[in-house]
Amino acid sequence: MTTISTPGASLDVLLTPQDLRAALESDARAGLTATPKWLPPKYFYDDRGSRLFEEITRLPEYYPTRTEHAILSAYADDIAAAAGAEVLLELGSGSSQKTRLLLDAMARRAELAAYVPVDVSAGALRDAMAALRADYPHLPLLGAVADFDRHLGALPAPGRRLWVLLGSTIGNYPTAERRTFLSGLADAMRPGEALLLGVDLVKDPERLVAAYDDAAGVTAAFNRNVIAVLDRELDGDLDPEDFVHVALWDAENEWIEMRLRASRPVSGRLAALDLPVELARDEEIRTEISAKFRRERIEPELAEVGLTVERWWTDPMADFGLLLARR
Ligand code: AVJ
Repeated sequence: MTTISTPGASLDVLLTPQDLRAALESDARAGLTATPKWLPPKYFYDDRGSRLFEEITRLPEYYPTRTEHAILSAYADDIAAAAGAEVLLELGSGSSQKTRLLLDAMARRAELAAYVPVDVSAGALRDAMAALRADYPHLPLLGAVADFDRHLGALPAPGRRLWVLLGSTIGNYPTAERRTFLSGLADAMRPGEALLLGVDLVKDPERLVAAYDDAAGVTAAFNRNVIAVLDRELDGDLDPEDFVHVALWDAENEWIEMRLRASRPVSGRLAALDLPVELARDEEIRTEISAKFRRERIEPELAEVGLTVERWWTDPMADFGLLLARR
């Protein structure tokens, strides 16, 4: 592992650009040769995709981000008191914007010893850490470029941690993968450490579908962007405009599924993989699932891996939940 250090800050690089490249190659090959075809959602987030996602979070139909923010604003002090931690460790920290509510609340309790942002994007971490440095000049920042399916056990632990995973990111895991992730997470947590988990809640399917199929077409552009990412990174010749955005509610699994549907027969190639990509008209590629939760369903899943839910915060409409679980 490489560590890059400057005064008051360090960046552990557990995941290299070569690792990311190898994962993209094997995921693209596996997903596009499978029946039905699929692609993992993590490839949405190049610069353009990250900008489109930011735009999604401001759409009238997309309630999760603003609702989670409202819950954090209302209860940050309560959360900090309940967590009783010295270190804030955030998985998928991105721009670290909403984290500030928690950092400030922990700082008010005079217990805050360090912030550990963890992300797969080295660029996002550097930008976020530079912005935080300006506003929190004395706070040690110990960033880690890491994949949370592989490196949870190797993350910095400069004190008792509050692990946070916000934005209902956990919804991207299908059920079996979610169990694997949670059990790895529980193993990486030390006894007494806490987890703050943000979960989008089951609600009227019409509202759920609208949140993933907005009137302005931003989510459609975000979805199609994964095709542009494949073209650029793997020397492909697919046309994003050959694909129609599809968002549907799977009532059995209680998740939203996003797909790209070929609007005509597609015959392309990813030259870097020497891989032909053929789709019949109306054939679909599954690009994302976004699971929605109920307290009665997530609590036993956490209990199964040794995490006990101690607190639960929600908004007045119960659209979104934040829970605190203890190892
Ligand atoms: C970042 C995974 C939480 O599932 O709501 C938003 C991503 N996809 N609109 C979500 C997303 C389409 C988002 N997560």
